[in-house]
Amino acid sequence: MLKGKKIVLGITGGIAAYKAAELTRALIKEGAQVKIIMTKCACEFITPLTLQTLSGDLVYTDTFAPAVKWDMAHIALADFADAFVIAPATGNIIGKIASGIADDLLTTTIMATDKPVLVCPAMNDKMLANPIVQENIKKLKKHRYQIMDSAYGELACKVTGAGRLPDTPGILEEICKLLSPATLDGLKILITAGPTEEPLDPVRFITNSSSGKMGYALARVAKRRGAQVTLITGPTALTLPPADKIIRVRTAREMHRAVLDNYKMAAIIIKAAAVADYRPAVMAKEKIKKNKESLSLMLERNPDIISEIGRNKGRRIIAGFAMETENLLANAKEKLKNKKMDFIIANNLREEGAGFQADTNIITIIDKNGQVQKLPKMTKIEAAGAILDRISSVINKKGAIKK
Ligand SMILES: Cc1cc2nc3c(=O)[nH]c(=O)nc-3n(C[C@H](O)[C@H](O)[C@H](O)COP(=O)(O)O)c2cc1C
Repeated sequence: MLKGKKIVLGITGGIAAYKAAELTRALIKEGAQVKIIMTKCACEFITPLTLQTLSGDLVYTDTFAPAVKWDMAHIALADFADAFVIAPATGNIIGKIASGIADDLLTTTIMATDKPVLVCPAMNDKMLANPIVQENIKKLKKHRYQIMDSAYGELACKVTGAGRLPDTPGILEEICKLLSPATLDGLKILITAGPTEEPLDPVRFITNSSSGKMGYALARVAKRRGAQVTLITGPTALTLPPADKIIRVRTAREMHRAVLDNYKMAAIIIKAAAVADYRPAVMAKEKIKKNKESLSLMLERNPDIISEIGRNKGRRIIAGFAMETENLLANAKEKLKNKKMDFIIANNLREEGAGFQADTNIITIIDKNGQVQKLPKMTKIEAAGAILDRISSVINKKGAIKK
């Protein structure tokens, strides 16, 4: 998501300035190009040398420093950026930006830019609660600044309260959001993800190899694009993505119930979960003993969730997945038609880099008019972007479904 993006990171003189080193590393790891501006006070907390080494570039600290390559640093940096991030942001810099003060390189550059700016306040809880600081934050919000809520927890001054710098993954997510198109703004979207587990007895179950990565990537990217996301997830080992509502389920029947309870409010439904087609007809009350040479299992069909909502879809957009090991396109097209979906995303388990568990996927998006879009191998986050692009184009054409 941040590959090739140009980020200017402003670091100010708070105790959390050391965490800007970790943020710099994370941004670089995500493929961003990072230029750093430090205030004079920030240099008291962490050295420019550390940030220079981590960012692989000069660190800018002085409006009036002799130019190395840039004509006027504040203008060049303001134009260079796709987005600005100030982390940590002191009460002082928030006050200065809110008052239109430009008395150092960071405040001058911020004044000179029309790019999105993310401000991550970090300070003592009483400083944060100070009505003037709150008024300044409100003023920044009113203009074009994105303000991240500070985290709650133990502060450097040993008290517990609000004022901690949010963690690095949280800041990265906000930056991605800042740089994402708001194509799903206000739309309600229901996404299912992960496998289901069908118990045989209290300790054993039938499941499949779904990791949940594709569904979680869809939830993450939909949220970045402004959607209100409900995620229904089977058991996974992943960190949950940001979502407005998360419902954890175990079995196909629980997934069925959760989807029926929630799909009506959604404009878009994406079923990325790998729901078991069959479940053991009987779940043994006690652990099954190893006292027979062979054991037969009687299975019975689980509800076909997507067909059921397909029949009652109204004007909702429905997308599902077809994971196949043979006749991929023919099977996917048949499934699309039979289940009254608008899109089916087909992937072939036999292709390397596609399917369960991997961080990449190779998908083909087929729409209900038979249009086939085969995409190259890409990360699941990129694949999620491509799927949501296709869905957004239909929503935008339909128009009326929005909000
Ligand atoms: C040890 C120490 C820790 C500080 N921590 C913070 C902090 O976390 N947040 C904050 O807003 N100010 C903090 N300050 C106060 C700022 O350093 C001070 O307001 C300074 O003028 C900020 O300058 P700047 O915004 O230009 O970087 C701290 C000061 C000291 C001495």
